[in-house]
Amino acid sequence: MEIIENSKLTVVGAGSVGSSVAYAALIRGSARHVALYDIATEKVEAEVLDLAHGTQFTGSSAIVGGSDISVAAGSHVVVITAGAKQNPGQTRTELAGVNAGIIRRMMPDLLAVAPNAVYVIVTNPCDVLTVIAQQETGLPPERIFASGTVLDTSRLRWKLAERAGVSTASVHAHIIGEHGDTEFPLWSRATIGTVPILEWETPGHPRFTLEELDEIAVEVRDAAYKVIRGKGATNYAIGLSSARIVEAILRDEHAVMPVSTVLRDFHGLDGVALSVPSIVSAAGAEPIRATSFSERELEQLRQSADALTAVAGSLQA
Ligand code: 2OP
Repeated sequence: MEIIENSKLTVVGAGSVGSSVAYAALIRGSARHVALYDIATEKVEAEVLDLAHGTQFTGSSAIVGGSDISVAAGSHVVVITAGAKQNPGQTRTELAGVNAGIIRRMMPDLLAVAPNAVYVIVTNPCDVLTVIAQQETGLPPERIFASGTVLDTSRLRWKLAERAGVSTASVHAHIIGEHGDTEFPLWSRATIGTVPILEWETPGHPRFTLEELDEIAVEVRDAAYKVIRGKGATNYAIGLSSARIVEAILRDEHAVMPVSTVLRDFHGLDGVALSVPSIVSAAGAEPIRATSFSERELEQLRQSADALTAVAGSLQA
C-alpha cells in the first residue's frame, strides 16, 4: 500500500552507486517518480536515457533527471550518493575530507528545492557525513540519516542463511555501529527463525562455533574491500538496500532497520551518528531505545563511536 501519493525520489549523484539506486528503485517500484541529479550533464543525461529506455519493463515509475538542481523539487525522499569513491585499499573514512566539502556545499541548495524531504546519506563515510549534513541543514536527526549498516546486515544474513540452510528472510541478525571497519554483529540478539544463533542445528547444518561466527563477522566487515579490489566499486547491493530504505519511508512502514542517525542520549552516546536498530517511517528514522546490548556489544558500540568522533574531529582541526 502506497501511503504517499505520487511519491518522488531524487537520487543525487549519477555514478555507479547513484545509477544503481535509481535502477533498483525503478525495478522495485519504490517510488512513483524517480529523478537523478548530477553536475556532470552528459553523464546524468545518458544514465537517465538508459534507465528511461527500460521503463516498459519496470511498471509505472517515471524517470527524469539532469544537471539542474530543480529536478529534485518536491521530493519526498532524497538519497545522496555524490562524492569521491573508495579506491582499492582505501578506507571509507579516508574520503571524509573531500566528501565533507561536497556535502557542505550541496545541502543548502538541495534543502531549498526539497524542504520537506527525508534525506538519506549513502556517500561515505556515511556516518560522519550524516553529522555534517544534519548540522549544516539544522534538520531534526530523524529526517537526515545514513543507509549505515543496512547493506552490511544484508551481507551478514546472506552468509548466515547459506551456512544454516535457510532463506535470508528467516535470519534475524544485525550489523550495527560504524558502516566501516569498527562495525560488528549484534550476536546476543541473533536468531534463525526463533532459535538463538548458537543453538541452530539441522541435518547437514551443524552448530556454529564462536570462531566461525568471528570469521563471518570479519568477512562481512571486509566484504566491500574484496568487491572493490575485483571490480573497482560496489553498486548493486547498495542500490538495492537504499531502494528498500526509500520504500520504508514512502510507505510509512515503521520497518526496523539498522540506519545511522545522530544519536541523542542513546545508551550514553550523544552527537555521533552510527547504526542501531531504528524504526523507519514517513517521519524518518528513530533509534529504538529499548534495544539491549551485552557488555561486550556496548563496548564495541563505544569503540565505533570513538572512531567516528575522531574522524569528525580531524575534519574540524
Ligand atoms: C559498501 O559497503 C563501499 O560502503 C560501500 O559497499
